[in-house]
Amino acid sequence: MTLPARKFKNPRARHNFQGRTCSVIAVGSYVPDRVLSNADLEQMVDTSNEWILTRTGIRERRIAAQHQATSDLAVKAARIAMQRAKITPEQIDLIILATITPDMPFPSTACLVQEKIGAMHAAAFDIQAACSGFIYALEIAQQFIMTRTYDTILVIGAEKLSSIINWADRNTCVLFGDGAGAAILRNRPRAHGLLTACMGSDGGRAGLLCMPGGGSAFPPTHETVAAGLHYLRMDGKETFKYAVTAMLAAANEALRRCELDISQIKCVIPHQANRRIIDAVANRLGAKPSQLFVNLDRHGNTSAASVAIALDEAVTSGRIQRGDLVLMIVFGAGLTWGAAVIEW
Ligand SMILES: CC(C)(COP(=O)(O)OP(=O)(O)OC[C@H]1O[C@@H](n2cnc3c(N)ncnc32)[C@H](O)[C@@H]1OP(=O)(O)O)[C@@H](O)C(=O)NCCC(=O)NCCS
Repeated sequence: MTLPARKFKNPRARHNFQGRTCSVIAVGSYVPDRVLSNADLEQMVDTSNEWILTRTGIRERRIAAQHQATSDLAVKAARIAMQRAKITPEQIDLIILATITPDMPFPSTACLVQEKIGAMHAAAFDIQAACSGFIYALEIAQQFIMTRTYDTILVIGAEKLSSIINWADRNTCVLFGDGAGAAILRNRPRAHGLLTACMGSDGGRAGLLCMPGGGSAFPPTHETVAAGLHYLRMDGKETFKYAVTAMLAAANEALRRCELDISQIKCVIPHQANRRIIDAVANRLGAKPSQLFVNLDRHGNTSAASVAIALDEAVTSGRIQRGDLVLMIVFGAGLTWGAAVIEW
């Protein structure tokens, strides 16, 4: 591309506007020590292990300690990813953190993580796409690598969902858990890396899954707290229907863009919300059970951390090797959804 000569420097022209690929160099994850089992929940609300297991596939979930905020979970995952990527905190150019449970409304949790890990040269910001957040963050990060704006990006999905759960509401409290997953993104020469990410949203259905209070619409007052507006709320049945349709459409679109058949995918990592959603999507996609990675039974739904933790566990357990094709599919509040194909 030839642009007219002007009397200033355009730093973006250094590589003649040529892009480059973006790879996940390393991943890491962390879940808190405390295990909350279905048997424990039986003591807290009118539920049963049998109901939770057959309706959701969840056996247990991890709950952060009182002193642990989302940034603390994120830092633990980030440190593991940095160590595996053999990078120092000073090398990180940008931190993008996806969460619906930030330490506080502002500053961003990404900035708090920056300070805690000592990434003093990094820019840092949060994104909010609920359970779809990690794929959204990966796709945003990829743009900076592709355009050569940044060389090394830390992407994190982290949640302390236990802080917004109504522990007296059996409809929601059995479903969620805490945790964090992190990825280091860089250009890896001769690797394709992140091939595509399809993202979508439907704000018309925002009311299906939300936390109404605490923001500018319903600032916290005694009344909003008494009405429980600071808790996560969900219409489970409706959310379920949209989850299956949206995840399937996103996955098919991602495969179509890469001219891939599902049989070529080594590992499918769906958002871990409900085993029945995962199976319905997998069946319609034509994915074999052996292609699926599921850790929902141990972690429940950890929202933005969900596929990030699953990706890390799939890699560290040897389910994914370098060169394998991975399909990640997400869905969450917003509504939001997405799918990404990665050449690992
Ligand atoms: C929440 C979910 C597990 C409920 O499963 P379901 O099969 O749709 O169950 P229903 O909502 O029809 O509820 C059936 C009954 O079980 C009851 N129930 C709900 N939670 C229960 C629990 N923890 N223990 C026992 N009974 C429970 C309901 O009160 C209802 O009783 P009723 O028929 O007397 O009213 C399911 O809808 C779901 O997973 N939805 C999507 C969730 C999701 O993906 N959210 C996050 C997106 S990121």
